Amino acid sequence: MSHPVAEEAPAAHGDALNLLRAEIAAASDPAEAAQRAVEVLHDRFPHYDWLGIYWVDGTDLVLGPWVGPEATEHTRIPIGTGICGAAAASGQTEIIADVDADPRYLACFASTKSEIVVPIFADGSVVGEIDIDGSDANAFDETDGRFLEEVAALLAPLRPRA
Ligand code: SME
Repeated sequence: MSHPVAEEAPAAHGDALNLLRAEIAAASDPAEAAQRAVEVLHDRFPHYDWLGIYWVDGTDLVLGPWVGPEATEHTRIPIGTGICGAAAASGQTEIIADVDADPRYLACFASTKSEIVVPIFADGSVVGEIDIDGSDANAFDETDGRFLEEVAALLAPLRPRA
């Protein structure tokens, strides 16, 4: 599947951030808010083929809300493992143009060609991340990264707390 690159990305990103703020405010609890957030992102951006939030749980990442064509078997990933675990360990956004060329990649879906993982921070620590799989190679760029870092700041207060 080929998706057009959004030339008007900044405007679309501003609109989506406003919608996310409204949906999060309207939700009755943090879990519902996070679910609404993944749905907004998936609906608004066709190149976000599979999108999930992982939350840090001790030394692991645990899958929270997700939206996409199929479920992943990777519902718990040790921090340090895979691209997801690398981003959680470093606190750096990972943009992978070709997942098959990255030895860290943990395969989930045969359709995935590229991936972006953006850490979610609270109180200076990584508390989760946004993970997006694309069915086109090179589907994500720095513009997605900057946008998703703003989204991550909206998601941080929604993390599950003991
Ligand atoms: N590909 C990820 C694993 C999560 S699935 O993409 C949903 C990784 O390499 O960490």
